[in-house]
Amino acid sequence: MPHRGVVLAVCLLLGLVFGADGSGQSSKQEIDWVALLPEGDGKNSVLTHCMGCHGLDRIVVQQRDQGAWLGTVGMMTGEYSAMLPEEEIAPITEYLARVAGEDNPLTEVPMDVNTVAENGLRRLPFLSEEAVKRIVESRAQGKFKSLEDVQALLKLQPEQAALVPVYLKVRPPAE
Ligand code: HEC
Repeated sequence: MPHRGVVLAVCLLLGLVFGADGSGQSSKQEIDWVALLPEGDGKNSVLTHCMGCHGLDRIVVQQRDQGAWLGTVGMMTGEYSAMLPEEEIAPITEYLARVAGEDNPLTEVPMDVNTVAENGLRRLPFLSEEAVKRIVESRAQGKFKSLEDVQALLKLQPEQAALVPVYLKVRPPAE
């Protein structure tokens, strides 16, 4: 995929040129998908075996039970020739069924701050438990109209405030 490589190179270059001046715009942070996967047995196996061909973005927002994950992993090793030691299959599918199972609170990133499940907010490393509680209490009183409201409510340090638009969004009300 030489084309993709060129695009990436140009993006990186633009990032270097425009990111360094502190203007904010081009130094926009990217989603850290690894951080969105909770710690636990099996996480390392996923990081080792499931990032070689595509990003974790495919994986983190799914809602599949262990049987379905077994099917997915089977497709990777079968159709796409992923190399996966036999003994890694159970840890990977058990872990994924736990963190990206049918009750996975993360269905999209950025997540809608007004509707995402409380446990979805807890996946964000930069939000303390207190911050999660404040968001949930506040949106019960009235939906957030903008991310500035969220930032103001939480009184975050600049570094953390900068992460808010990376992981959260306010979906405009449906017409
Ligand atoms: C050898 C390369 C390779 C490896 C390693 C790999 N995948 Fe994939 N994966 C692919 C390809 C190719 C696709 C389909 C094309 C695409 O979406 O880019 C895909 C698509 C997916 C999808 C989206 C399709 C769907 O089922 O919804 C998921 C989820 C997924 N992979 C999970 C995994 C997991 C979990 C692992 C680790 C066990 C893994 N992949 C490792 C090549 C790979």
